[in-house]
Amino acid sequence: MKKLVISGFSALLIASCSSENKEQTNNNQNNTEQESKRYDDALADKLSVFEPLEPKDTLNPALVKLGHHLYFDNQLSRKQTMSCNTCHNLSTFGVDNNPTSKGEEGKFGDRNSPTVLNAAIHSAQFWDGRAATVEEQAGMPILNPIEMNIPNEKFLIDRLKKSETYKKLFKEAFPNDKDPITYNNLKKAIGTFERKLITPSRFDDYLKGNKNALSVEEKKGLLTFITTGCTTCHNGQGIGGQMFQKFAVYGNYWDYTKSTKIDSGRVKITKMPGDKFVFKVPSLRNIEKTYPYFHDGSIKDLKEAVKIMAKAQLNKDLSDEEVTDIVNFLKSLTADIPDEYKKAPEVKL
Ligand code: HEC
Ligand code: HEC
Repeated sequence: MKKLVISGFSALLIASCSSENKEQTNNNQNNTEQESKRYDDALADKLSVFEPLEPKDTLNPALVKLGHHLYFDNQLSRKQTMSCNTCHNLSTFGVDNNPTSKGEEGKFGDRNSPTVLNAAIHSAQFWDGRAATVEEQAGMPILNPIEMNIPNEKFLIDRLKKSETYKKLFKEAFPNDKDPITYNNLKKAIGTFERKLITPSRFDDYLKGNKNALSVEEKKGLLTFITTGCTTCHNGQGIGGQMFQKFAVYGNYWDYTKSTKIDSGRVKITKMPGDKFVFKVPSLRNIEKTYPYFHDGSIKDLKEAVKIMAKAQLNKDLSDEEVTDIVNFLKSLTADIPDEYKKAPEVKL
């Protein structure tokens, strides 16, 4: 909208000027609408690489409730000082915003904590895909000496068995089990809670046909994202999370990120030479909020991360305008979880 400058004009001039201004505003609106429509048309046959994100309504509420308790419980670490939420804070989009995270004994891991939001839909868990599902994954940080440092499964199960609350919650979640408090059931419950943490955004409304769900700037950015080639790897429901790829395809990743520790990635798991420097393509859902970026948290600024991606993965030099466009689109992927999941549940343990 153009601002009206009144001072120094005669009454007549003001009248004519303001009607001109209205016309101008109408013209601008029409132009924007036309431009928006042009982007809709240009995008129409390119959106099939994506799929709208759908929340899961069929999950067993008793399992979700137990998982919610466990997720926030410090008893899951040896000295009872940290929970899953310490590194994957649900009040800050499932991350701690640190390059790497400190475990219970004060030691830092080598990798950045990815968000737990929407992790359940990934084809594999961790930067190197070494766990298949969120249920399998959930058992691992608890026993990891540089994370939660529980010495063995029995140690934790014996601890939880002393709690009246857990006796009740496990029984409700696993009514057919004679001895429901087991490590396997704990993994199932935490995983089920994570399956609740799905965050559809305005982008999904757009995919489903609501053309007003995205602004012109976001549509322009979406088109740039697609035509640049980002969608060869970042696609599907998660805009990523479905495949493994080398970082970097062109050159060495550390030349772009200035990382000092070199991580060989998935080769450590598969032992196949072709998997050297291969990582899971991360989901870009909530990417605006889950900084710093890359497997080692080496880049803080999203624009910088986008620039690096274009160069390292596609050998393209993006202009500042193109980078801004893509970031405008990426911000439309931001959506929060319901408040009820952000905090520990009320019941005293
Ligand atoms: C000390 C910090 C820390 C704690 C505590 C922690 N995590 Fe993590 N988590 C990480 C890091 C770091 C990674 C990435 C490690 C890797 O890929 O090698 C990770 C990876 C994950 C992933 C994989 C996500 C993806 O996109 O691949 C999930 C899911 C997850 N954690 C859930 C949990 C749950 C559930 C708990 C509690 C039982 C937990 N984490 C406890 C730091 C932590
Ligand atoms: C050839 C596959 C490929 C292409 C093409 C690609 N990416 Fe990526 N992207 C990856 C991989 C793999 C990673 C993880 C790299 C790492 O940290 O080890 C990643 C990471 C990212 C990250 C950081 C995510 C996080 O959670 O830290 C962003 C942002 C990103 N990509 C955006 C883009 C954009 C924008 C484009 C297009 C300009 C693009 N990518 C093109 C494979 C690709």
